[in-house]
Amino acid sequence: MESYLLAVLSLATLSFADTCYGGVLFSTLPQTLAVSASPTDGQVLKAGEDNITVTWGLNQSFPDGTDSSYNEVKLMLCYGPISQADRGWRKTVDNLSKDKTCQFTIAHRTYMRETQNFTWMIERDVPTAVYFVRAYAYNSSRNEVAYGQTTDAKKSRNLFKVQAISGRHSSLDIASVCFSAFALLSVVGFMALEKRGRNSAEN
Ligand SMILES: *[C@@H]1O[C@H](CO)[C@@H](O)[C@H](O)[C@H]1NC(C)=O
Ligand SMILES: *[C@@H]1O[C@H](CO)[C@@H](O)[C@H](O)[C@H]1NC(C)=O
Ligand SMILES: *[C@@H]1O[C@H](CO)[C@@H](O)[C@H](O)[C@H]1NC(C)=O
Ligand SMILES: *[C@@H]1O[C@H](CO)[C@@H](O)[C@H](O)[C@H]1NC(C)=O
Ligand SMILES: *[C@@H]1O[C@H](CO)[C@@H](O)[C@H](O)[C@H]1NC(C)=O
Repeated sequence: MESYLLAVLSLATLSFADTCYGGVLFSTLPQTLAVSASPTDGQVLKAGEDNITVTWGLNQSFPDGTDSSYNEVKLMLCYGPISQADRGWRKTVDNLSKDKTCQFTIAHRTYMRETQNFTWMIERDVPTAVYFVRAYAYNSSRNEVAYGQTTDAKKSRNLFKVQAISGRHSSLDIASVCFSAFALLSVVGFMALEKRGRNSAEN
């Protein structure tokens, strides 16, 4: 019993340590990546329909070699402050292992010296909110080492809005309605069968 408890405890500690590995502070990261995205300030885009093209690269005002430790780049869709208010689950925390600002991965790429671009269709599960795009550069030990974003430091300029799918009848909605109807019919059918079985047993 004791060894079982110990095993569970050490497993819990292990997974905790794993999720917290590399808790870099955002405020310590240099903004060396130049990032731009196709949406204009205030533009409204539709999830599951509209595309965003993100362009990123080393900001040319930094010297050569600034990016020597950059190994990978992750492009993220991040909540603007107005869509974080009163929502703890989207909170900005300086410690990146706890930060909830950027919850949607647009792309994950090997870092290249040349300016790159990527076009992403906004995924269907992106909720209605105000967003900006941020890129993180990671070193070979998968720690964030630099960033760049499409908005200013206060996240007040150059924000766009995504309109979620809900309210429109997507094929997914229709599929789930069909599935629910099927489940209901199955239950009704099962009950009818059971009743008949009981009746014949009584006879
Ligand atoms: C970030 O948070 C994690 C988990 O609490 C912690 O292990 C790590 O040391 C923190 N990082 C910094 C730089 O404070
Ligand atoms: C590049 O960095 C300089 C100095 O930090 C900054 O003034 C400029 O706005 C940056 N350019 C881009 C495209 O981010
Ligand atoms: C988004 O990209 C897809 C695939 O490249 C394309 O089929 C679609 O028409 C684009 N949507 C818009 C609104 O441009
Ligand atoms: C995106 O990159 C391709 C090459 O990979 C280039 O031909 C194209 O012009 C770029 N588009 C934009 C908008 O920068
Ligand atoms: C990656 O960055 C982290 C945080 O700055 C640092 O502790 C680590 O030593 C770096 N790893 C490599 C291989 O440079």
